[in-house]
Amino acid sequence: MSELAELYREIQGCQKCVLGQSRSHAVPGEGPDDAAIMFIGEAPGFHEDRQGRPFVGAAGSYLNELLDRIGLKREEVYITNVIKCRPPANRDPQPVEIETCQPYLDRQIALIRPKLIVTLGRFSMQRYFPGASITRIHGQPKRVGNVIYYPIFHPAAALHQPRWRETLEADFQKIPELLAKLDEVEEGEPEWPQAQQLSLF
Ligand code: URA
Repeated sequence: MSELAELYREIQGCQKCVLGQSRSHAVPGEGPDDAAIMFIGEAPGFHEDRQGRPFVGAAGSYLNELLDRIGLKREEVYITNVIKCRPPANRDPQPVEIETCQPYLDRQIALIRPKLIVTLGRFSMQRYFPGASITRIHGQPKRVGNVIYYPIFHPAAALHQPRWRETLEADFQKIPELLAKLDEVEEGEPEWPQAQQLSLF
């Protein structure tokens, strides 16, 4: 069994926090095990909990559409969440749940080694930009080591708020430029200092 498959098995049987008792299915994530781009959402919702797959409800359809508009297929990218089980009634994830689940996401990242991590919404942003406000830093990529972190709004939030929808769509349009920038870096541009804010746009 591959290390990723083993990790999925652990997540699917996890009982480390209370969410293990109320979920129908844990939702480890999906996508190629060598994806260059990883999208990290918040937590599974009703449909994800039913199917054991991330982003399969309304927010997922919108995410698929956004990917399509920039020429990416859903099957090409890796999609997961900060926490792997649905909080009851879709309440916010609790700090202890996020902390307990964190090693799973860390292991996913270590195995998949994405070059671009796109955080969807404030909960996944918080992990990489602690204390930041999404309304201030959305659309501003930051490179740490060999990984670019790119915080953007959550598709579900944008679906409910037309003003954010425009912003999310504009931020999404910058992803191809970021990918091109990653290729340049790989071809020998000098290392940027750790945690330097990139001003690509
Ligand atoms: N919202 C999320 O954050 N994740 C999902 O998987 C679905 C909806």
